Amino acid sequence: MKTVFINCSPKKRFCASAYFLFLQKMFVGGEKVSEQLRTPADHERILEQVTDAKSVVFCLPLYVDGIPSHVLRFMEKMEAYCRENSLQLNVYCIANNGFIEGKQNEPLMQIFENFCSRAGLFWGGGVGIGGGVMLNVTRIMFFVEIALLVLNTVLSAVNTGNFFPKDAWISFGENAALLLFFNLGVLFYLACMGSHISKGTHSGKKYTRILIPSFIFILFADIFFIIISFFEGGLFRSWLAKKEYTES
Ligand SMILES: Cc1cc2nc3c(=O)[nH]c(=O)nc-3n(C[C@H](O)[C@H](O)[C@H](O)COP(=O)(O)O)c2cc1C
Repeated sequence: MKTVFINCSPKKRFCASAYFLFLQKMFVGGEKVSEQLRTPADHERILEQVTDAKSVVFCLPLYVDGIPSHVLRFMEKMEAYCRENSLQLNVYCIANNGFIEGKQNEPLMQIFENFCSRAGLFWGGGVGIGGGVMLNVTRIMFFVEIALLVLNTVLSAVNTGNFFPKDAWISFGENAALLLFFNLGVLFYLACMGSHISKGTHSGKKYTRILIPSFIFILFADIFFIIISFFEGGLFRSWLAKKEYTES
């Protein structure tokens, strides 16, 4: 049984879709093939891969309450290809969005459902994930925690000869548990869908989010985007940039 996992994020690095696909793959058995859909040059290669597959898992970001345009172009091509070749595929979808409510992915899920119906494919269902950017940050934080633990262990070994600094391990355990907690909803629904993907059965549409209260999410999201805007230049650069006026 072959499952093709398609990362549809246009980002080259650090995309949330890659993180969710990594988690999803842990819960699916059989042959697994990973693909990246970013440009039209990827179309033929991916269509070749799905030809002998049993299931396809699309993992994509929500753009303007819908599907990113480069994914739509591929779906148009795939619809025609599946009909021409009478492919019998199970299609699943993992969608993530920046705002906190995973339910915002509902229109995107409906588009996938309609796509399956038009292409003659089996709609297996999907998981919509809110707070995708922040969940992606939790995986980076996990690696930062590991690096801090290693650093503390080395410093403790050098300074006191103790290779097991208890406080550093307790702090690591607490922080790792907190990061895991934030991800519990995602892990639960991806585990459930993984079991359906392995069996080729219908999993239904499920929506989840990062498990923190909304007011904390908004606070952290505001701080995060202000910092990002400093680096990317979006907000402040456009405020401070000299404006050009045209006389009408
Ligand atoms: C052009 C564009 C449109 C977006 N539209 C929405 C939106 O309508 N709702 C939302 O919650 N997030 C929106 N986002 C945020 C993305 O869904 C979010 O950053 C997602 O985690 C990106 O996933 P990726 O890292 O896998 O590409 C948008 C982002 C971009 C760049």
